[in-house]
Amino acid sequence: MTSHIKMDERVERDRLAEMVQAVIGKPLDRPEGALKVSGAAPYAMDRLPANACHGVLVRATVSNGTLRDMDVDAVQALPGIRAIIADDRLLRNPAQGMAGEAPIQGPKDIAYFGQPIALVVAETFEQARHGAQALKLRFEADGTAIVAPDDPKADIETPEDEQDSTGDLDAAMQTARHTVDAHYTTPGHVSAAMEPHASIAEWNGDRLTLYGSYQMLRFNRAELADALGIEEKQVRILAPYVGGGFGSKLGIGPEAVAAALAAKALGVPVAVAMSRQQVFESVMRRSETDQHIRLAADEQGRLIGIGHEALVSNLPGEEFSEPVTQATPFLYQGDHRVIGHRIARVHRTCAGSVRAPGEAVGLTALEIALDELAAASGIDPVKLRLINIPQKDPSQDIPFSSHMLAEALEEGAKRFDWDRRRSEPGAVRDGEWLIGMGMASAARVNMLIESKARVTLNANGTGTVETDMTDIGTGTYTVLSQIAGEMLGLPMDSVETLLGDTAYPPASGSGGSFGAASNGTAVLLACEEIRQQLCERLDCDMQGLTLKDGHAIVGNRRIALPEILDGSRLVGEGHVEPGKAEETVRQATYGSYFAEVAVNAITGETRLRRMLGVFAAGRILNPKTARSQCLGGMTFGIGMALTEELIHDPRDGHIVNRDFAEYHLPVNADVPQIDVVLLDERDAWANPLQAKGIGELGICGAAASIVNAIYNATGIRIRDLPATLDKII
Ligand code: MOS
Repeated sequence: MTSHIKMDERVERDRLAEMVQAVIGKPLDRPEGALKVSGAAPYAMDRLPANACHGVLVRATVSNGTLRDMDVDAVQALPGIRAIIADDRLLRNPAQGMAGEAPIQGPKDIAYFGQPIALVVAETFEQARHGAQALKLRFEADGTAIVAPDDPKADIETPEDEQDSTGDLDAAMQTARHTVDAHYTTPGHVSAAMEPHASIAEWNGDRLTLYGSYQMLRFNRAELADALGIEEKQVRILAPYVGGGFGSKLGIGPEAVAAALAAKALGVPVAVAMSRQQVFESVMRRSETDQHIRLAADEQGRLIGIGHEALVSNLPGEEFSEPVTQATPFLYQGDHRVIGHRIARVHRTCAGSVRAPGEAVGLTALEIALDELAAASGIDPVKLRLINIPQKDPSQDIPFSSHMLAEALEEGAKRFDWDRRRSEPGAVRDGEWLIGMGMASAARVNMLIESKARVTLNANGTGTVETDMTDIGTGTYTVLSQIAGEMLGLPMDSVETLLGDTAYPPASGSGGSFGAASNGTAVLLACEEIRQQLCERLDCDMQGLTLKDGHAIVGNRRIALPEILDGSRLVGEGHVEPGKAEETVRQATYGSYFAEVAVNAITGETRLRRMLGVFAAGRILNPKTARSQCLGGMTFGIGMALTEELIHDPRDGHIVNRDFAEYHLPVNADVPQIDVVLLDERDAWANPLQAKGIGELGICGAAASIVNAIYNATGIRIRDLPATLDKII
């Protein structure tokens, strides 16, 4: 029996307010935490069967051209080599997952440097790697490849439905008392998940089992079946543990297709693990951005106009483009507006979703521009934001579902002692260090994705949750067990949550901050289905049933669940779909960042001294895992502000810094004490849990608070990220 809901309107009652356990909302530990820290949780490559062969990918060394020839015979003669797979199906770009279509490059056509073109399979990994390195390739390079978005010869697309204009921004800029008109640039980024992509493929007749590391299994199954030209039902993907995704595992990677093709050809399981360099080159990058921002404000700092025009890049024919301006239409007021979006077609690694696509870089630029407006108008940056919060979504004239930006700004300012900030730059010094404080708003769109889950109340009174949802380090195991525990009156350790297997009901998957709220709702509905069945057995109505400590309480009766079940079990299924609520109200999460930096007056080095994030994301299902998400987001914000930058060779577009030695993620020494405050909020438009997504909120604008603090410390305005010392000195 399935309980189904389509989110067409706000939920009438707070279903969780009626629950009595209060398991939800507690900062409970991860049930799988001990497995992870002790190495017992099996990640993809830990599933290696004894008879598996190993494959190593071979990549293109031109950015645009044709593979003419490879010296297969010489490699086949090497010890242990079992096969060289050079199938056209390998040339497909990794699918985008949410964006869907995976384009097929023409046979043997190369679109970017690093594109996987073949797989060398051997009995051991070392033999395969040796074979892959020894494989001589002959390419015919197309000398005209455009590899830089600012190349004047680059083909620039201006998709009509992504341009928007209201009022007359040019005129507003002329008459405004205060204006900002500047370009901001952010470099490419990579997701940098700790676990590199790896797949083990095993065929049983025409059925494929793939142990992989992916975020959205139901989509990944469809993509893999499509790539191989087989039916979805022939494919089963297992990914119970995923060592981070951050967008890079939304869609299948080339290693999954390669492993499946090789395993089929050889009749044995084949494992393909990508090296870190291969992940950098062949998976996904976040596009670099060039953002032209215009702000027009009156004497009091009230915005009358906002312009945000972005140029991003991707491969020719790719559908995805970094949605830079996603939050700009609704974050601040202003009647005169221009939203622009252009895509340069370049032969660089495919661009895709990386760590909050859109707001992560778009709000960073917008929030630096707001700081420039604050400086130009002499208005305090917190106050400037407070006076520009719109009453409803100005772009669509619809109300906000819930909105606590003002509270987040005020709470953050209070907790960070913002009133101690000196507004004139360079006013505070500590020896050779210049000290400054900066802040920014946070915002991220809230999404609901169709999701299903099955819950079983077992005869012994324990609960089991089954869904093909993933836990990519986010805490899914924890919050789904909490939801089921709350709804069934069970302690969390009496609920087993089983994830990461396409044999279970299809879930939203993990991405876009929608996982916990979407799939958590499906679990809640499944549990309501079980509660209904218990009511039938106990001859009571839903309001009259209380479930607590493994017992049902009806009137003055208190009965242990196994007694009611009497050897049987109850199964409930939940199914949630997005509906009209998406168009009726504007759903987003909000927050604020505050940062204090010390900039060395001699070397230009920036050290972050302290940082605070205040966030409102509806009901917080588990403050501990939610806080961890925010800490991670803000840490990536530090990277975006100070160190992270993909560098492409101007000759052929290849990524020069394709490992963690050269692509600088923040490390412990870069991350000071970060404080996270979660505000109490409910959003009845979001879903019956009244929870919104929080996963990505911590990065959406975080870098701006640091860059703005650098300005306050030094008077130097960084508009080209990251703020490396050469730009400051
Ligand atoms: Mo996310 S970048 O949608 O995993």
